[in-house]
Amino acid sequence: MKHKIVLIPGDGIGPEIVGEAKKVLDQVCQKYGHEFEYEEVLLGGASIDVHGIPLTDDAIATAKSADAVLMGSIGGNTATSPWYQLEPSKRPEAGLLRIRKELNLFANLRPAYLYSQLKDACPLRADIIGDGFDMLIMRELTGGLYFGDRKTYEENGLATAMDTLVYNEAEIRRIAVKGFEIAKKRRNKVTSVDKANVLDSSRLWRKVVEEVAADYPDIELEHMLVDNCAMQLVRDPGQFDVILTENMFGDILSDEASMVTGSIGMLSSASLNETKFGLYEPSHGSAPDIAGQDKANPIATVLSAAMMLRYSLDLDKEADAVEQAVQKVLEQGYRTVDIMSDGCTCVGTKKMGDLLAEAIQ
Ligand code: IPM
Ligand code: MG
Repeated sequence: MKHKIVLIPGDGIGPEIVGEAKKVLDQVCQKYGHEFEYEEVLLGGASIDVHGIPLTDDAIATAKSADAVLMGSIGGNTATSPWYQLEPSKRPEAGLLRIRKELNLFANLRPAYLYSQLKDACPLRADIIGDGFDMLIMRELTGGLYFGDRKTYEENGLATAMDTLVYNEAEIRRIAVKGFEIAKKRRNKVTSVDKANVLDSSRLWRKVVEEVAADYPDIELEHMLVDNCAMQLVRDPGQFDVILTENMFGDILSDEASMVTGSIGMLSSASLNETKFGLYEPSHGSAPDIAGQDKANPIATVLSAAMMLRYSLDLDKEADAVEQAVQKVLEQGYRTVDIMSDGCTCVGTKKMGDLLAEAIQ
């Protein structure tokens, strides 16, 4: 089958990890007789350096013309990079927010899973880890504080700043439906996270989530306040299946959940719209401190490519093959430096990509 994929290498370690994911996809094409046509576009700092802005209209049009987008990571060192001397709307992150909005990628899926081979990397005590954990954060990605009105102004002689958190019921309903649908394919539990004891937007969130839940009688729904959720993630991560939450809470909780796995270099993500189209990227950042040193772990990007095969291209068996290749290479004891432990073999980014490509069955 023929598919068009847009690649966004981005900044920092982005080009290295996307290169390895492409290596694995090339192997998938060869083994399973598919043809992927690739086109690269610039986003973030890479686009600022060439065009002066973090995302061009052309780049958006190219992304829209594809079946899916596979991205590395964007951004630089906020203290030292000249990109952060620019006004906020011209910085790398503004490009990421714009592409999410323009492509209507409202559903952000962030799995946080404890690999049995990497249990030692988990910062939690063995009795807390128990049999491990496997959760998915369903984060709303195109609303809330990120996209509400904001301004910085002076009032009564004082510098003042304002951000607004707005959701309408349709925005809440569509992400809730995605959350329940995915829970149906997992362990039938949704934890909806809000701050309904304080925020109006959270009270509406809770009401709409309950309405949606009525259509899913087999799925257990619980509500949890966001501060409690942050605590429960380190107290008993095994209790969670799908965590459904708004944009800002999801941003924060997904970093926490990924750290709890001990191996953020392993975690993939998908951002989807109403159709099959999606943008796939690792959950980690652009790690400018190790860029270009063959140290980055490409596995999160490779697993994001597996999500792309599954959700956007309907290639389930190929996605399984990529996920199994990751398991196999870990079982063989190969590790990048971020997940290295005693008795394993430490390999660089490229070697890890080679091993994963070879392991595709
Ligand atoms: C993420 C990142 C982004 C976000 C930044 C880079 C704007 O932290 O994808 O989680 O806050 O959404
Ligand atoms: Mg984040």
